[in-house]
Amino acid sequence: MTPHIEANKGEIAKIVIMPGDPVRARLIVEKYLTDYKLVSNIRGISAYTGFYKEHEITVMASGMGIPSMGIYSYELFKFYDVDLIIKVGTCGSYTTELNIGDIVLINGSYSESTYAKIQDNVDDKIIYADAELNDFILSLNHNIRLVNVNCSDVFYEENNKNFDYKKYDCKVCEMESFALFHNAKKFGKKATQLVTVTDNLVTGERADSSMRQNNVMGMVEIALESAIKYENK
Ligand code: HPA
Repeated sequence: MTPHIEANKGEIAKIVIMPGDPVRARLIVEKYLTDYKLVSNIRGISAYTGFYKEHEITVMASGMGIPSMGIYSYELFKFYDVDLIIKVGTCGSYTTELNIGDIVLINGSYSESTYAKIQDNVDDKIIYADAELNDFILSLNHNIRLVNVNCSDVFYEENNKNFDYKKYDCKVCEMESFALFHNAKKFGKKATQLVTVTDNLVTGERADSSMRQNNVMGMVEIALESAIKYENK
């Protein structure tokens, strides 16, 4: 048990699929897992462990933002010996080349966040997903684009002009990857993040909440298939 996860050690699988939203976690579990069990439910952040095609998997929400993802990924890697986390999330697009519904895989996560600095005195402005895991996912899914993201603390009215994210060629923005990638690196674990575009910041188009919740299952299937094939390789 940790302050935020009440599962016993051993009740969390080595592979964790993390949506941001606990409702989405439940939908993923009902659709894809068999023999699942609720192993933690603090603050409504439910974690379910079950089986996807005979592989043990935990599905657990990260909540929104770097601090929330920072807490859960830290506890999963450090106290539950999790080996691999694939976050499945949503993102805003800075380009009309990437539109609502498109799926991308994150390479580098650029952030102005102080998370890595405060926790571990790391000054990096960009932290990368696991390159080997990403290569593997791309080898299975030729039509997914690999992009850098701006991992921001702000959803609305962000004044992006203040940031040098353009220097890192960030095509999309989201709010969790920087903490996930930093913690994976800190503990010598594997992590990456798939994101579906739900907002286009050029056109102002934003998906509604039901689309945010439901139209992400294609990406979830890619995450599940990639995780079990990666474990088998
Ligand atoms: N900004 C930041 N994070 C996001 C967005 C956005 O527009 N959409 C989904 N995650």
